[in-house]
Amino acid sequence: MKKSVYVFALLSVLSFCCFVVPSEWQLFLKEFVKHPHEIGSVVPSSPYTCRELTRYVCNRDSVVTTTPYHILEAGAGTGVVTRQILQNLRPGDVYDIVESDSELAAKLTSMVESEEYSAKGSARVRVYACGFEKFRDLYNIQKHSYNVVITTLPFNAFPLLLVQGCLLAIRDSLAPGGHWSYIEYRWLPDIKTTFTWGASCDCLKLVKKEVQDFCATAIEKKKVFVLRNVPPTYVYHLKFSN
Ligand SMILES: C[S@@+](CC[C@H](N)C(=O)[O-])C[C@H]1O[C@@H](n2cnc3c(N)ncnc32)[C@H](O)[C@@H]1O
Repeated sequence: MKKSVYVFALLSVLSFCCFVVPSEWQLFLKEFVKHPHEIGSVVPSSPYTCRELTRYVCNRDSVVTTTPYHILEAGAGTGVVTRQILQNLRPGDVYDIVESDSELAAKLTSMVESEEYSAKGSARVRVYACGFEKFRDLYNIQKHSYNVVITTLPFNAFPLLLVQGCLLAIRDSLAPGGHWSYIEYRWLPDIKTTFTWGASCDCLKLVKKEVQDFCATAIEKKKVFVLRNVPPTYVYHLKFSN
């Protein structure tokens, strides 16, 4: 009797996931189950978070410039932020997307090649299926060439060496005066530090310090709280002189 209740409950959850949860969330969840430390979240960023993350791409009317932008996105996932950027590209923009998960990268490639976006005109969009920390070297990308770098990489789930590699990649990618926008879930780092012990806890603290030290070199900082996200998150915008 008890067993059949469990089976029924499991089947109910599965059918809920199949019919109610959007397919994008299902793919995200599937990849999270396969690689929890690389995905770092169970659901994609909310539209509110995506809007805030992309403020330097989307709000260009307030900046008196007609010069095309070079935009870099790392950790694009199922493409929620990507879609927002694609909709706001201007002629001559260059938009590079880096995603280490090959299945997600394939989905992103079909998204940028779809009629809806490829008809957008003369912006150049490319998807790179590799780790962000090695992408510049692998593809011979010029140093300091991006006006805007947007990352949703789960630093708090990464080993220290990978975080260092990613921060270096951000520094080397940004053009002088460029902006880096990134997210950090509101309570997650503190909860994780409280509930982990020994080497894992030390690693988390080191990661936090590494990111803080890096951010301290910025010439401008803005921190925006986004409540309507799962979990609620901070979006940081940092400007570097280089
Ligand atoms: C928290 S998810 C964010 C996905 C999406 N941008 C969003 O906001 O919903 C992090 C993404 O970073 C990707 N990722 C993890 N490590 C990476 C790395 N070293 N280089 C590039 N992408 C990476 C994961 O595969 C995952 O898709």
